[in-house]
Amino acid sequence: MKSGIRVRQAVERMRPYHPPLEGRTDKLRMDFNENPIGCSPAVRRALARLTAATISAYPEQGTVRRKIAKYFGVAADELLLTNGTDEALSLAVNTFVEPGDRVIFVEPTYAMYRFYSELAGANVVAPRYDAEMCFPWNTVLTELRKGPRIFFLPNPNSPTGNLLAPAELRTLLHAARRTVVVIDEAYFEFSGVTVIPWIRRYKNLIVTRTFSKTAGLAGLRLGCIFVNRELAAKMRKAQSPYPVNAAALAAADAAIKDRAFISRTVREVRRGREQLEQGLTKLGVRFFPSGGNFLLVHFGAGAKKIVAALERKGILLRDRSNDFGSEGYVRITLGTPGQTRRLLRELGAIL
Ligand SMILES: Cc1ncc(COP(=O)(O)O)c(C=O)c1O
Repeated sequence: MKSGIRVRQAVERMRPYHPPLEGRTDKLRMDFNENPIGCSPAVRRALARLTAATISAYPEQGTVRRKIAKYFGVAADELLLTNGTDEALSLAVNTFVEPGDRVIFVEPTYAMYRFYSELAGANVVAPRYDAEMCFPWNTVLTELRKGPRIFFLPNPNSPTGNLLAPAELRTLLHAARRTVVVIDEAYFEFSGVTVIPWIRRYKNLIVTRTFSKTAGLAGLRLGCIFVNRELAAKMRKAQSPYPVNAAALAAADAAIKDRAFISRTVREVRRGREQLEQGLTKLGVRFFPSGGNFLLVHFGAGAKKIVAALERKGILLRDRSNDFGSEGYVRITLGTPGQTRRLLRELGAIL
């Protein structure tokens, strides 16, 4: 039955985004770049200590926000806490983009840049990485000089893994003087490149971080925006009053104290990376260099079958072929050495 109710044209025009959302928890999840060892035990203890008073009251974030700001080396009023990076991206669009404004990002990339831009009725400009996954410098610099409203730049990018060096980021920021540049550092702990200290130097720079990856809190949804005080105040105006829940705040408070857990995650992922790269090389599978906790591999024409066969064995990978317009591109989240051994064993048997 048709309701006859009209929705916004921007919504009608959007392509639906369908990530697999169910039935993943008991599998070996090498599909969504989550933490392969879970979360810190200190986080679970903090959640168990939540009182009825805390749970039944609207969340108060002041104390935890000050601690998180200190942890990242910024002032509390240069930080906004968000419901995952996703809300940070949405907030950036809601604060700065009018319908018809241009928003630019290089594809293939994280799907939510396009999602929120299209939802706002923005005019999306999306140059692409070439077959060798090279960043399209000329097109991007030309487009930036035209002054789009927002430039979304994940560093490193997912799924390609591209990592830009600080000097390259400086070139982009200099070309983007009239544009809000959102540098998404979701995978910072694996890349080691950050521009958070630059928020005082570049008045148009927003940096985002997430607790979903290294901290292992994807299920609680917590992200951060780092930006100068003036824009932080404007963005806060556009944000709902309770974006982050009490459980996420308690978990983040515990997570930032357990630096050993973060180091352990990075160490395990680094070992997993070496092992996966060696294993793929032996199997003759091409992969691209990555600054994140994932590798983009090219399985070629058999990719769909390989991903399906691994899924039957309880191992989830992310087929990204649609993003590249040809079958064969699959993103593998890096796991621990034990998990990687299991993947390589099954992959070897299939190939
Ligand atoms: C580049 C990038 N940014 C952000 C996110 C999502 O972060 P969050 O879970 O904080 O919304 C992802 C998740 O895969 C990502 O790849």
